[in-house]
Amino acid sequence: MEDKKSQRVYVKTYGCQMNFHDSGILREGLKKKGFSISSSAAEADIIIFNTCSVREHAEQKVFSDIGRVKGKTVVLAGCLATQVVKGGRKGKKTAPRLDFYFTPAELNSIPDILAGGAGTRNGLPQPGSKNPDDASFNRDISEKTGTIKISEGCGNFCSYCIVPYVRGTEKPVLFDEIINSAKKIVKEGINDILLLGQNVNSYHSPDDPGKDFSYLLKSLSEIKGIKKIGFISPHPRDFNDKVIGLIAGNDKISKSIHLPLQSGSDKILSSMKRGYTSKDYIALAERLRKACPDITLSTDIIVGFPGETDEDFNMTLSLLEKIGFNSIFGFKYSVRPFTEASNFPDDVPLEKKKERLQVLFEKQNMIVNKNRI
Ligand code: 5AD
Ligand code: SF4
Repeated sequence: MEDKKSQRVYVKTYGCQMNFHDSGILREGLKKKGFSISSSAAEADIIIFNTCSVREHAEQKVFSDIGRVKGKTVVLAGCLATQVVKGGRKGKKTAPRLDFYFTPAELNSIPDILAGGAGTRNGLPQPGSKNPDDASFNRDISEKTGTIKISEGCGNFCSYCIVPYVRGTEKPVLFDEIINSAKKIVKEGINDILLLGQNVNSYHSPDDPGKDFSYLLKSLSEIKGIKKIGFISPHPRDFNDKVIGLIAGNDKISKSIHLPLQSGSDKILSSMKRGYTSKDYIALAERLRKACPDITLSTDIIVGFPGETDEDFNMTLSLLEKIGFNSIFGFKYSVRPFTEASNFPDDVPLEKKKERLQVLFEKQNMIVNKNRI
């Protein structure tokens, strides 16, 4: 019988920085188990799809990619695997053949299970033993930045968001583990770190709630060899003055802040369960800019959320104008299984969503060009 471990594995990653981080760790684990890592799907024996299900478009892309794979072992990993396992694609086509499913929490068991191949084919996952020397940091693609996950999951339950259901509620990593990861990164000759979490600024070490996000940032900045610390993403509701003070006063902390707004309408923000109003957001942006005038702000916007009228959308456009973001990411709302908003009528027609997205980007381009002059 062919030695499973000499097989070549290709890991295809979709979605956010968190998934790219997870895939890096996964590749390390696979190498330790003797698998060889392929840089192309064509030459691999096993393809692991590390997936995202935050928006419907991402989900469709995965299944169309899987549909094209022939004669290889197919592994569905990440958020979409949880969605499938929990029945979140009932009535929808999945893929012609899936050999293994692994949820994000089971990622560490993939190398073990693929090596042993024990009884998981076409069924629910049976996590293997946790890799004892599993790395908790990863180099990003540019190899210049080390990413560290400071928490997994999210407990905010924004009404449109699938993350709490597929990644679970927030599980912060121990403060000491994060510090150790940072020290290991420095030892590898990397000086920039990027902290990852769905809601980084609600961080509290599980063994000591006093060790919060500002304490973590300050402690990391005191590690010799660390030159730059970035983080994605903070939640506007959880930004406090201690963190603002650190951004302003500590040279090592990145001045590029990604601060997801989602909408400029208070009615929509409330229905999204975001926990702040447009006024709160503006006040926060002002506090940040006052403390640190050279800050750059970017954001995420969803257009076409249930109940969003032209008037609501215009409020988002006005807020873009008022804040003057350096860049934005815009998304058409898509219904996600399990979420509260999946019970709301998806009443903004697709054409209207597309139109609003285009207007949003045009507005943003205008703002950026105006600020350049
Ligand atoms: N529809 C559209 N966009 C969404 N996002 C999250 N859930 C949805 C959804 N159901 C966007 C948000 C979030 C980003 C990562 O993805 O803007 O900040
Ligand atoms: Fe999703 Fe809201 Fe958590 Fe972000 S804060 S991951 S949008 S539930």
